[in-house]
Parts: sequence; C-alpha cells; structure tokens
Amino acid sequence: MFRCKNCLLLGALLLLLIAAIGGQAETVPCKLKDAQYGKVCVCTADYCDYLENPTLSQDDEFALISSSKQGLRFELNKGSFGAQEKYTINDYEEPAAEMTASNGTILSRMVDQALASIFSQPVTPTSSITRSVTLKVDRSKRYQRMEGFGGSFTGAVSYLLENYKEQDIQDHLYKSFYAAKGLGFNLMRVAMGGCDFDLEAWSYNEQPENETILTGMEKLDDRDVIRVEQIKRLKAVSGVENLRIKGAAWSAPPWMKTNNRWTGFGRLKREYYQTWADYHLKWVELMENNGLPIWAISTGNEPTNGILFMVFVKFMSMGWTPQTQAVWVDDNLGPTIRNSKYKDLVIFSNDDQRYTSPLWFKQMNRTRPGSLKYIDGVSLHWYWDEIFGSSFVQDTNEFMANKIQIISESCIGDKPWQKAAPLLGSWERAEKVARSFLSHLQDGFHGWIDWNIILNEAGGPNYVNNTVDAPVIANTTSYTEFYKQPMFYIMGHFSKLVPEGSVHIEAVASNVNLDCVAFMRPDEKIVAVLFNSGRADLDISVVDTVRGNLKVNVPAKSIHTLFYN
Ligand SMILES: *[C@@H]1O[C@H](CO)[C@@H](O)[C@H](O)[C@H]1NC(C)=O
Ligand SMILES: *[C@@H]1O[C@H](CO)[C@@H](O)[C@H](O)[C@H]1NC(C)=O
Ligand SMILES: *[C@@H]1O[C@H](CO)[C@@H](O)[C@H](O)[C@H]1NC(C)=O
Ligand SMILES: *[C@@H]1O[C@H](CO)[C@@H](O)[C@H](O)[C@H]1NC(C)=O
Ligand SMILES: *[C@@H]1O[C@H](CO)[C@@H](O)[C@H](O)[C@H]1NC(C)=O
Repeated sequence: MFRCKNCLLLGALLLLLIAAIGGQAETVPCKLKDAQYGKVCVCTADYCDYLENPTLSQDDEFALISSSKQGLRFELNKGSFGAQEKYTINDYEEPAAEMTASNGTILSRMVDQALASIFSQPVTPTSSITRSVTLKVDRSKRYQRMEGFGGSFTGAVSYLLENYKEQDIQDHLYKSFYAAKGLGFNLMRVAMGGCDFDLEAWSYNEQPENETILTGMEKLDDRDVIRVEQIKRLKAVSGVENLRIKGAAWSAPPWMKTNNRWTGFGRLKREYYQTWADYHLKWVELMENNGLPIWAISTGNEPTNGILFMVFVKFMSMGWTPQTQAVWVDDNLGPTIRNSKYKDLVIFSNDDQRYTSPLWFKQMNRTRPGSLKYIDGVSLHWYWDEIFGSSFVQDTNEFMANKIQIISESCIGDKPWQKAAPLLGSWERAEKVARSFLSHLQDGFHGWIDWNIILNEAGGPNYVNNTVDAPVIANTTSYTEFYKQPMFYIMGHFSKLVPEGSVHIEAVASNVNLDCVAFMRPDEKIVAVLFNSGRADLDISVVDTVRGNLKVNVPAKSIHTLFYN
C-alpha cells in the first residue's frame, strides 16, 4: 500500500534534506514576542534566529545590520557607496494583517480601526523631525588591536543548560553566542571552582585540609565534569575558531584563609602563598588534560571585596591589598607559571572596579617593582562606571601601556536603585550596554567579557540571591524556550563582524546625535558601529577617506553595524 499521505511526507522530508544540504536557511529571522518591558526573541529546540554574516561582492558595496527599540533585530540591508540616493532603514512595524487573516471578525474590526486612524490623522505627521550628522572614517589612523568579545560560563549557566533536556535548544544557546551566524564570540570567563552564580560556594581541594601538595586536584569536580562537557559541546557545534578561556578564582578553600570562611574579612594565609600559586597551575593543567586549553587567568576576582566591602558582599571572596598581591605575584604566582609548561599563559590583574585602577598597579609597583612584569593585562568590572568617569581608564591606559585591557565582568541590576532581576525586553538597559561598549572601545580597550550568558526569570540562580539581568533569559517553567534580550543584539552589533585581530580606527561624528566606533578587520574590511540613542530619526552621511560617501536614514532608538571594503 502506498498512501498519498506518505508520499507527501516523503516529499517534504526530501525538500528539507535538500535545503539542509544546500546550506541555505542559515539566516533565520527573530521570532519577536512582546514582554513586559519591550520585545524579546524567542528560541525553542526547533527555532532560533541567526544572521549569516554578509559578504561583499563589489568594491563599493556595503551591508548594514540594524536593530531598534521598536523591533528590528539584526535586519540586513545592502547598498553601494557613491549612490545618489539616500538609503532609508524602515523601522519595524507590527504585522497586523498576517495575524488576522484567518479570522474574518477580527480582520474587519482591524480594518475599521485602521480606517478610523487614517482619517483621524493629520495629513502630515507632526512627530517626525529628522536630525543629521556626518561621520568621518579614516582607516589610516589606527589604535588598539582587538582580542575579542565573550560571555561567562558560570555554575548557574551550567545548571540552567543541564535543565534544558533537549540537546537542540542547548545547541541553539551555544551557537547564538559563539557561532559566526550568532554573535561570533571568542572569549569566555569561567570561575576556578565556584562563584556567587552557583548553587553553593565551592572550590577545588576543600579536602584534604592543610596539605600543600593539593591531592584534591587530581580530577575534575563533578560540577566541572558537566561544565567542561558543555563547553566542549559549545566549541563543537558553534565552530568557534579560537575560543580563549580566562579563569578566575573567587576564593581559596577556607582552610587556606585567615578567617577559615568563604566570605567576610579574609585573606590568604602567608604559609599558603605558594600552595595557592600551585592551585592555579594545577587548575590550568586539569582543564587542559580534560580537553579545555586555558588562555588566561586573573589574580583573583574582586580582591577588595574581602578587605573593604565584606559588609555588602555575601558571596565567595578573598581579600588582597595591592601590596600583598604584589608579593604573591612576584614570589609565587609569576615564577610558578613562567617556569612551567604554561609559561605563555596570560595573567590579568585587578579583575575589580575601575576606581581601584591604576592605583592598584602603582601600589603593586611600589611594593615590588618586579611584580608588574608578570602581569600581561588589566581586567576591569564596569559596575561603578557611571560614578567613576573614564579618567580612571585613561590613566590606567597610560600607566599600563602595552598591556591588554579588557572588561571581564558586566551586567545590569546590581545597584540598589535598579531592579535586581531581568527586565524582559528592556531597550533602556541595552542602551546602557551600548554606551559602555562605545566608551571603553573608544578609550582603548581590547575586549569585553560579559557576565552570565543565560539566567533564569529571577536573574539567578545565585546562592546568595545576588540576582541581575542577562542577555538571554531562560523559561524555567517549561525549559522549552529561552528569550534573547535587546542587550544580546546590542553586544552582537560590536562583536559579530569584529573578529580577533581587528584594529580600532578613527571615526569622528560631527555632533552628539551619533555615537560611533570603527574597526579595520584583518581582511582589511571596515566595520563601524552606529548608535542613534535619540528620539528622532537620523540622516547619517558616512565619509570614508578611501571608499567615498554614503547617506542613510536610520530610525529613532536604533543601532547599526556598517560593513564595507
Ligand atoms: C475568531 O473570532 C471569533 C469571534 O470573535 C472568536 O471567538 C475566536 O476566538 C477568534 N479566533 C481566533 C483564532 O482568534
Ligand atoms: C588545619 O589547620 C587548622 C589551623 O591550624 C586547624 O584548626 C585544623 O584542625 C586543621 N585541620 C585538620 C584536618 O588537620
Ligand atoms: C615602577 O617603579 C620603578 C621604580 O621602582 C619605576 O622606575 C618604574 O617606572 C615604575 N613602573 C611604572 C610602569 O611606572
Ligand atoms: C534567597 O531567597 C530565597 C527565596 O526568597 C530565600 O528562601 C533564601 O533564604 C534566600 N537566600 C539568601 C542567602 O538570602
Ligand atoms: C514560560 O512558559 C510558560 C509555559 O509555557 C508560560 O506560561 C510563561 O508565560 C513563560 N514565561 C515567560 C516569561 O514568557
């Protein structure tokens, strides 16, 4: 028996197969959903949005990727430099007809409403003022080289992924961040042991106590058995080319500390300085032996939490002053790493708020002039940037010239005056991310690692309820969906077309209506991120010293990535 139902099914399967082999359908539009504070994109095991990176076929061609408050998400348009006409990026509009086509009653009501609104409108809409700006891009003026962009794979992230039972939806999360058709991330931060975004405090070698030979580090902790497998899967399915992982410890096991606790006023005991250096080396070795080579470590997460802010900070922390850290780096960590098989490991210091820098490094240098030679990079957290201005960054740049400078943690919802939870769909929070990326990249930063890549609806799990927002929010009711926040796309406007090795170039806007940063990639193509935070649409005239002119009108509250030869 050969029933027609089967042949249709067979035909459909065949078509799917052809589509898959043909490699089309890499670009999948966002499935937009209204959430409480704006719009999110919904991903399920069967569906997730991606944008295949644009290619340029002619010298004067450009591609423009756009997102907006109103609902554009990685919308791709193309055109040519030197064209007479002005290009216009139309903002997102609700697809009214489509959702009602099957219901006559509603359709006719909508038509009535539409007619009513057309007739009640004045002939010329009053709201639209257009501002204008000229952007000059000069690729001959070159600044810092980019290391890249990334997110963090905490215990909370690992736990949420573990609860998504379908492999396909886990894979969508990995690809959304690390595939070329996703955000193209290449950096990642992981905790050496636990951090606050975990189900409990933990570290390696909690047992046996008081033994400097660290026999408790011979194999992966059960939690890391899962996490390491997940990260390896991420590498495999995303195709990320050069994933660079940065490790940071939140705290030593309590027995190494002066207060014998995970948190509070506690420092590393002097007799365990070398043991703690060995711990770092052993962790790097353990990860590599389990298939995850490590690119960098830091000297420890937020060292001032354990000496100044223990009243506010309830999670794992270990205090350092710059003076004690200088001694540890100079006598223990530095020599231990540089005399090992992992001598090229990149060592970052500070890993704390920008207001501690460059004082931190000046004090280290004063205590031990040799200590800074072991430090390859400065990593800062963005949390108090609105209060402590960019002069801290500029001074650090000067004092730590020729070192890698990155943001190693950022998220919103950490302040008493902010809601300590995700705001689903918030474009305003996404704009904060955009402003901070722009100012740090303009100030010479080489990269950015955001905090948790996914959190639950409450902004956790976090074992001390230190909940915050994240670029992707899980649905832990069903574990069959996750939501991409506007800030996910904002980060992508910077990361997606700016691979490792790109160089920041000069881009100057003629007025404050546009904020911008531009890069030349290793393939010598140009990428400019254009941010219109205003309430009016904006005419942007791009003048490139090599390529010529281009005029484009972009909607209010929108961000764009311009890509050209
Ligand atoms: C179509 O309209 C009818 C009558 O208003 C309503 O009862 C029904 O729920 C609608 N169906 C859909 C799919 O919206
Ligand atoms: C480890 O050392 C501390 C401090 O000297 C001591 O109180 C503790 O009992 C020791 N632990 C073990 C298991 O020996
Ligand atoms: C560190 O201190 C020494 C003096 O001990 C000084 O010569 C050097 O310039 C300082 N390093 C930096 C980066 O300022
Ligand atoms: C975190 O919040 C939950 C639920 O409100 C509460 O039961 C728990 O005690 C809190 N934990 C901490 C460490 O504050
Ligand atoms: C999560 O999924 C449940 C069940 O499908 C749904 O009722 C709920 O609205 C979803 N949560 C969010 C934040 O969309």
